[in-house]
Amino acid sequence: MTGTLLLHSIGEVATPRGTTPRRGPRQAEVERTRGSEIVCRDGTILFVGSHDERQRQLGPLDDAERIDCSNRTVIPGLVDPHTHLPWAGTREEEFAQRLAGVSYQEIAAAGGGILSTVRSTRAASDEELALQMRPRMNRMLSWGTTTAEAKSGYGLTLDDEIKQLRAIRRAHEEHPLDLVPTLLAAHEVPPEHRKDRERFLDLVCEEIIPATAEAGLARFGDVFCEEGVFSCQESRRVLEAGVQHGLSPRLHADEFVDSGGARLAAELGALSADHLIAVSPEGIEALAASGVTAVLLPGTSFFLMKHTYAPARRLVEAGVPVAIATDCNPGSSHTESLPMVFVLAVFELGLSIEEALTAATLNAACCLELGETIGSIEVGKQADLVVLDAPNLLHLAYHYGINPVHQVIKRGQLVHSAPGA
Ligand code: NIG
Ligand code: FE
Repeated sequence: MTGTLLLHSIGEVATPRGTTPRRGPRQAEVERTRGSEIVCRDGTILFVGSHDERQRQLGPLDDAERIDCSNRTVIPGLVDPHTHLPWAGTREEEFAQRLAGVSYQEIAAAGGGILSTVRSTRAASDEELALQMRPRMNRMLSWGTTTAEAKSGYGLTLDDEIKQLRAIRRAHEEHPLDLVPTLLAAHEVPPEHRKDRERFLDLVCEEIIPATAEAGLARFGDVFCEEGVFSCQESRRVLEAGVQHGLSPRLHADEFVDSGGARLAAELGALSADHLIAVSPEGIEALAASGVTAVLLPGTSFFLMKHTYAPARRLVEAGVPVAIATDCNPGSSHTESLPMVFVLAVFELGLSIEEALTAATLNAACCLELGETIGSIEVGKQADLVVLDAPNLLHLAYHYGINPVHQVIKRGQLVHSAPGA
């Protein structure tokens, strides 16, 4: 983590600026500068500016490690603020059913869906869980993600939720990609509690939340607030119990129907309301008034073949800060690629290239309470950078279906190079 790294011959540096979420017209305020150099020292960005200015301020830097960017574009390390990373097993049979016309909700009602992954995750050992997470994290890094949120929620017992959160902690310690842990114990009602959901909510609020929070295993508390899963009232109980134990709230809200999730997020001052495909105009207003970030997951609309997407333009125009995320999970969005989600954000959500960049960097960082340290390329921030194999930012959507990432730098260290780089 020590030493000096110099990135030179950069084509374009493209970055939002600041440490707080960008909303409304400011979401599109991305600085695009040509001909800059970036110097990183001891894991932090020390300098961003012209070659001459760097010579004046820092001298020749003869001992520095150098990366010749050969006219490529440099953006901040991508931040993925919504993933379900620690799961075991796959659900390709359900995928085939969905391709044949069965809906995601029908599969869930028949005991598949989330509960299918709960069965395989409960059956997996710590070691198996770690083994399955690692290639996912390698893929995330190779697509430019340098920090990701990761949720539990496929355990649904105290021990199994702890197993998932421990897997997140271990993966965070062992892998260059940083993970921020979220407890999602109320992701679904497990089969053993189908006849007494009240008892399950007691278990979540009185045992799982206190135990995991006290062990320092989670930073945020989440709930699947949705018709047929947890009602607004139940979600409020879970999120408030989390707050009492220091878990800042965020929630799966208004994914399939408007069940008041956005309003609940606003009332609780949640860090984010996620999905929002079915959010109501009142929900949008409430989010705007309270400053909750909308985390949009267009990969989920795409993968569930819904042909309806969250009203991103109305959210931006109402002044809600918008972030984007993969929702990486085996049922509703099986991808690790934020650049793929970026393409969907531009083509399907209608975000501009600049708005989408802010959504995948600074706004994503801020809703994980990391805006002070990551999310932009500025002196003093952590040196998390992505070199794109592209002459300018537009290529991130213009040249689609390819992996645009050439190199990834985490805390000033080169941690990934594309084949042939
Ligand atoms: O965000 N909506 C709830 N949870 C996930 C899906 C998880 C699964 O299908 O396994 C989501 O889409
Ligand atoms: Fe999710």
